[in-house]
Amino acid sequence: IERTFSMIKPDATRRNLTGAIIKMFEDAGLKVVASRRVHMSLREAEGFYAVHKDRPFFGELTEFMSSGPTVVQVLEGENAIARNREIMGATNPSEAEDGTIRKLYAESIGENSVHGSDAPETAAEEIAYWFAGTDIVG
Ligand code: GTP
Ligand code: MG
Repeated sequence: IERTFSMIKPDATRRNLTGAIIKMFEDAGLKVVASRRVHMSLREAEGFYAVHKDRPFFGELTEFMSSGPTVVQVLEGENAIARNREIMGATNPSEAEDGTIRKLYAESIGENSVHGSDAPETAAEEIAYWFAGTDIVG
């Protein structure tokens, strides 16, 4: 059984899509084992997205991520990392498959409703960035 880090982004919380998005994860067999609503600071967003600090969109990304509430979660299930990314769809909603969260809800490549870890190492780091071990109840 695997765990991944998931985040519902400010464009989605603003449109009251939290429940709809969580239902898609649950319907696909992923279990929410930790969950918290957080309005992150710009500093927290910069720390979380440090791997992207040299990308041209870093400023836009971190300002957006700190512009409103997000929901940070740990999802658990068989192949949770890959499964979560399948359910999210491609980063750019215009390239996302039908039925994916980003196809249904994302507004643009930047405001794309959800984040999900891309590998076991990043999942472990991202979970530890937002949660203490005792926050996770499997
Ligand atoms: P995450 O699950 O959010 O990490 O998405 P990803 O792995 O599909 O994309 P990637 O790690 O390449 O980029 C991280 C995030 O940066 C994306 O989810 C977008 O929100 C944002 N991003 C990526 N490319 C662009 C871009 O060209 N413009 C802007 N404004 N944001 C971008
Ligand atoms: Mg990524």
